[in-house]
Amino acid sequence: MGRLDNKVAIITGGAMGLGAADSTLFAKEGAKVILTDVASDAGQKIADEIGATFMQQDVTDEERWKEIIAETVNLHGKLDILVNNAGIVEVGDPENQTTAEYRKTMAVHMDSTFFGCKYSIPVMAETGGGSIVNLASVIGLVGYNQFMQDNAGSSGLNPYPHSKGGVVQMTRDMAVGFGKHNIRVNALCPGFIFTPLTTGLFSDIDTRSKLQSLHPIGRLGQPSEIATAALFLASDEASFVTGACIPVDGGY
Ligand code: NAI
Repeated sequence: MGRLDNKVAIITGGAMGLGAADSTLFAKEGAKVILTDVASDAGQKIADEIGATFMQQDVTDEERWKEIIAETVNLHGKLDILVNNAGIVEVGDPENQTTAEYRKTMAVHMDSTFFGCKYSIPVMAETGGGSIVNLASVIGLVGYNQFMQDNAGSSGLNPYPHSKGGVVQMTRDMAVGFGKHNIRVNALCPGFIFTPLTTGLFSDIDTRSKLQSLHPIGRLGQPSEIATAALFLASDEASFVTGACIPVDGGY
């Protein structure tokens, strides 16, 4: 008996990193997983490995969101779970970023979460409710600290923490708005986790050990440690949890 038996879940950005870990765990726990990603080959490969359905999607494309949700309902008759996971680190030098770079970060994190929720909620409401899990960040709760400001190309102008803070507030507001439909909306706020997103940042040994020391637990996180939290929020075990933005961050 799986913890997500009979549930239908869309997970964005499932081709690698946290999305791949979520997809793998959700499929193992019995969910019918729709794994989406802009990266077709990697997405298809992992979907085949875990018995999920792959759909190519750029999460910033509003029309594509409507198609993904309609195709999911055609395939499985309903949608129970949405994990808004796709994300990027686009801006290397925030002080010299282009407006296009700034807008892309906001679009991949905020527009996508908005569209995903907007088009999933009516479908979830029809079948009596659902669970949405948004990937925010601990950096959406506290901002970059001075170390990141000084050493990791962050200057107070980096749209990454700004967009993740936006996801936190969107989560809370949607939880209030859609609780009446039994739709729970929660966010995970990970600390620094080993994924392709952070490979560059962690490659410098000094940066990595300084970052490690900012996590009181004394190490950086693994994708499976985020996936287990996502599983809890997605499952009926979290039936009274909504509007929560949960740090999974080794105490950061
Ligand atoms: P990752 O870079 O390893 O994987 C992100 C996935 O999203 C990739 O498969 C990529 O192809 C996909 N993606 C990017 N842009 C897309 C788009 N426009 N449309 C569809 N798919 C797109 O990243 P990671 O580390 O797995 O991050 C997942 C989420 O967790 C992101 O939202 C990230 O901001 C967040 N996060 C990650 C942390 C970390 O330390 N790795 C910490 C806190 C939050």
